[in-house]
Amino acid sequence: MALTVAEEKAYYERQYARFLQVSPDDLRFCPTAFLRDLDNPRKEVYERRALYAATLAALARLDLSGKHVLDYGCGTGDFGLWMATAESANVTFLDLSANAVAVCLLRAEASGVAHLCAGEARDAANLSCFPDASFDVVYGCASLHHTLKYPGAWRELLRVLKPDGALVLTETYGNNRLLNVLRRWNWRRSNLPQEQGEDVIFDDTHLAVLRQSFTTVQVRPMHLLAMAKRPLRGRYDARWVRAVLSVLDAADRALLWLFPRLKRYCGEVLVVASARTPSV
Ligand SMILES: C[S@@+](CC[C@H](N)C(=O)[O-])C[C@H]1O[C@@H](n2cnc3c(N)ncnc32)[C@H](O)[C@@H]1O
Repeated sequence: MALTVAEEKAYYERQYARFLQVSPDDLRFCPTAFLRDLDNPRKEVYERRALYAATLAALARLDLSGKHVLDYGCGTGDFGLWMATAESANVTFLDLSANAVAVCLLRAEASGVAHLCAGEARDAANLSCFPDASFDVVYGCASLHHTLKYPGAWRELLRVLKPDGALVLTETYGNNRLLNVLRRWNWRRSNLPQEQGEDVIFDDTHLAVLRQSFTTVQVRPMHLLAMAKRPLRGRYDARWVRAVLSVLDAADRALLWLFPRLKRYCGEVLVVASARTPSV
């Protein structure tokens, strides 16, 4: 059964409430520390380090200084904060959860970029607070697959993005049925509230929707065998685990070079869409 927007909101309000208790020192976002954390096996971001590093490089190429960016489904806002602190972008944090947006704004203040940041707590299916063509870039990390199930969300996203703007997505990639079975089994096993919005996994059907609205859609799938990192979560600081991950990464490089068609079965993807088709 599909999650309602109220259930999803309640779930995420609970998830983010604890960050409101954190001290300003711990809320501060430092872009160099964020980059360092990507290489630190004890940090949560280590698991997605290659995907996140590719995302930061793609965002940096957009030359964001002074541009208006919507951090779409921002959560605690790491990427929006990176764009404000490292790239001097004007960032609007958008999330269904008011707690998430409040945390992002507290973090912006603690990081000295409050003047570059704004926030809106609302359902992405109704962005009437933003005029047409408000943003040069819409960035979503693990969020578009949540919002697409709400009627009107895609139309609203396109409306607020400038016709010459870019949509950048960092997503779990869902063409691989085996991976999807394992993911769903893991969600059930971990007893998470049903779906928590994860029932939709971004895949090639979503890319087809993007291609109807953008003439340039760059897709960078990542990690095939290396998705075996997931069961090793929490153990990345063990040397043998990192050795296994290196072997899997090397195997992926060879496999995907030899058989590029396998790329669509990777478990993660970075998408950069630009140049809107005239009909939209
Ligand atoms: C998996 S979290 C990702 C958060 C963050 N981007 C990150 O990478 O940590 C998905 C986010 O999408 C938000 N979300 C879900 N449905 C939404 C909606 N209809 N409108 C706006 N945000 C929504 C949730 O509140 C949640 O913060």
